[in-house]
Amino acid sequence: MTAQIDFDALREAAKEVMTRAYAPYSGFPVGAAGVGEQGHIVVGGNVENVSYGLGVCAEVSMVAGAVSAGVRHLSAVSVCDARGAILTPCGQCRQVLLEFGGPGLLVDSADGPRPLGELLPAAFGPEDLARGRGDR
Ligand code: THU
Repeated sequence: MTAQIDFDALREAAKEVMTRAYAPYSGFPVGAAGVGEQGHIVVGGNVENVSYGLGVCAEVSMVAGAVSAGVRHLSAVSVCDARGAILTPCGQCRQVLLEFGGPGLLVDSADGPRPLGELLPAAFGPEDLARGRGDR
């Protein structure tokens, strides 16, 4: 599975979109690139706001673009900082990625790709929602 994913291409796409991130407040531009089931590459950069709490992470921006492009399942993602170094997604982004990749989504890391299930163990999911609602 990992062998079929071109992580070099994903890393390049993440670096390229990072140059278009909007991060004037933190000075920390981030780029995220993902690949959909059909091999479609989707990208996004962080988009900050003068009202700091409204800032959006690169991964969330990427997911919004993916869904708008008709891509609802990601197989792998790579995220980078301003130097092009691989970043592992923040906690919030791990939950957002889980929605569109599941625990098998391969997340690039300095030690190589890791399944999202390892980075977000015991995650809140649809089963918890159904149980809490008393659906089952
Ligand atoms: N950021 C991301 O875009 N993704 C992450 O996974 C970590 C943090 C952004 C948020 C903020 O715009 C800047 O990096 C500094 O935290």
